Amino acid sequence: MRIGVDYYPEHWDKNRWKTDIKMMHKAHIGVVRIGEFAWSLYEPKEGKFEFGWMDEILDFLDKNQMKVVLCTPSAAPPKWLTDRYTDSLQWDIYGRPKLFGTRKHYCFNSDVYRKKVKILNEKIASRYGNHEVVEGWQIDNELGWSNTTRCYCESCRKKFQSWLKAKYQTIENLNQTYGTVFWSQIYNDFEEVIIPRAGACYDSCHDTQGQNPALLLDYDRFCSDSVISFAKESVNSIRKFSEKPVTTNLLDAAVNSGTGIDYFKLAKELDFVTWDNYVEFQWGKALKETVSRDHALLRSYKKQPFWVMEQQAGPCGWSKMGPSPAPGKLRLWTYQAVANGADTVVYFRWRSCPFGTEQLWHGILDHNGDENRRYEEIAKTGLEMDKLSKYYKALMPHPKVAILKSFDCEWSQGIHRQAEGLQYDQYQLDYYKAFTKLGCPVDFVSPEDDFGQYKLILAPLLLMTEEDTKNRLEKYADGGGTILFSFRSGIKNMHNNMLQETLPGFLQKLTGIEVEEVDPLLEKETNVSGVFGQSTGKIWCDIIKSKQAQVLGIYTGDYYSGRPCFTVNKFGKGHVYYLGCDLDENAMKKLALYLGNGLEIKMFPYEIEGVEAITADDEEKEVLFLLNHSDSPVVVPVQGVYREMLTGERGEDSIYLEATGVAILNFDNN
Ligand code: GAL
Repeated sequence: MRIGVDYYPEHWDKNRWKTDIKMMHKAHIGVVRIGEFAWSLYEPKEGKFEFGWMDEILDFLDKNQMKVVLCTPSAAPPKWLTDRYTDSLQWDIYGRPKLFGTRKHYCFNSDVYRKKVKILNEKIASRYGNHEVVEGWQIDNELGWSNTTRCYCESCRKKFQSWLKAKYQTIENLNQTYGTVFWSQIYNDFEEVIIPRAGACYDSCHDTQGQNPALLLDYDRFCSDSVISFAKESVNSIRKFSEKPVTTNLLDAAVNSGTGIDYFKLAKELDFVTWDNYVEFQWGKALKETVSRDHALLRSYKKQPFWVMEQQAGPCGWSKMGPSPAPGKLRLWTYQAVANGADTVVYFRWRSCPFGTEQLWHGILDHNGDENRRYEEIAKTGLEMDKLSKYYKALMPHPKVAILKSFDCEWSQGIHRQAEGLQYDQYQLDYYKAFTKLGCPVDFVSPEDDFGQYKLILAPLLLMTEEDTKNRLEKYADGGGTILFSFRSGIKNMHNNMLQETLPGFLQKLTGIEVEEVDPLLEKETNVSGVFGQSTGKIWCDIIKSKQAQVLGIYTGDYYSGRPCFTVNKFGKGHVYYLGCDLDENAMKKLALYLGNGLEIKMFPYEIEGVEAITADDEEKEVLFLLNHSDSPVVVPVQGVYREMLTGERGEDSIYLEATGVAILNFDNN
């Protein structure tokens, strides 16, 4: 466990570098990430390369015992490139090219762009691939940032058509699958197939409303594949010359979520995953649970410790700023990352830049470059990390509960939202919150992952799934696993078309129920009662007929009062739950407790308001992290005698945490 910074030595006079490094060492900062936007320095004119400036930076860092994550600079193409190769530009959904002036204005499918990126990446990798100072690589920067995964240019149109041809072979097959007979959309040739630019638009939620849902989902998949193929090419350029591990910084950012990239697939191309975590800034404030969920996603993409590559370090925004992190928050956010499985936390950025778009985006140091309150807090955290690393290797929770996250389902639900107030990641977050508020960590699994290590798989909104996943879910339940499905699961095929079987379609056998009728609750509410207590459905009600499942909850209002809303089916040695309605936050926690207790999963009996409790281990030793996210002190009840690892103090049965305080309790080794 350690800390680092995002550093831009090229933004400053060289005379300052020595002071920077001295201050970094004093703060226990041992790694810097550099160079992700430096294309115009590397290649100021087409084919004219300059490396002297980077040689000097790397040699300086090396001499000063700093380690480096070196980036490929493809996220900000230079002016000469955009002027000369206009077909490298990304087009927006209205078919307008994105012009030079900010960043990320390139198309992942532009052959010329990819060629130019490859040339430069290979030059950088061959020059620095074996440099002592380089410990790893980052390709590009925040792939998909600011709606750039889905491009609508002519290269994308042509490549999409080839992608479809490879998938469907004949146009008749595509017509049949897409149901193009609807609204006279039958295509005669793959070359006629459109890309879904803004079209008939009846819904303010997105601009493609009204277009063919099978085509929309395929376009989402194609765009994700295009980004991943670009990433893979960049990774390969590095691997050709370097054995150091490669990553990129993901954007599950609590506030800006949803890049449209299947991160489970992207993660397969990387050696480790990292993400950028801005908690309170110009564009909003994240809930502690959302940030925790994002950390959990990151550890889940590769089931291994991850990094935060950009961690907020000051007040930030582009045109106006969010609040300055109050005393204790930078440290708290760092421990939140570490407790959830991060082994390196890199702060963005070292020093606030006086020029350019991000002059208000404060780093650790203000523009004056002096030590300040934030620097002192980070230095204290750095020292603690050094000490902790003497006791523990990377710590990570190893949960018994996982949420099944499918990007196909997420995108499908984005295309047809099903009901007012329903959003895939928000609804999955309800489950994450319910369990983690009771101190029970939760992982995420992809449809392709192995479910065997978990006692409980939560599969809310599994709209569609591959046959293979369905079979593995059946095997898992049969062997003793427990699964929970929610309403709108088992409703579609993989082409985003509704099934013709009685719902829940492919889950009928597992759930032992039939959905007789559905009632999406636009502007009304329905009361329910069950093992989760009393609650109110506000989004959706499935009116269930049990075939062989046991009823654990019923509706108590509406024309279906008395009918089941929650059931459990014994399946082989396991159990399969089906929840036909949404529940309020309190009932969700009671549901979590009901399921957790039944499976003998360790949980608190109630939520400790404002406190995040996470049990993590380094595969040998276990610790309990207690993070006080609230502005007041709190006393947390715990079971047994412990040693607090940051202070070394011993205690029993309870612990006092100051506002934004952190405790790391070791119960094993007193
Ligand atoms: C991230 C990005 C950084 C910087 C930061 C502040 O999205 O990776 O380069 O721009 O936000 O805006």
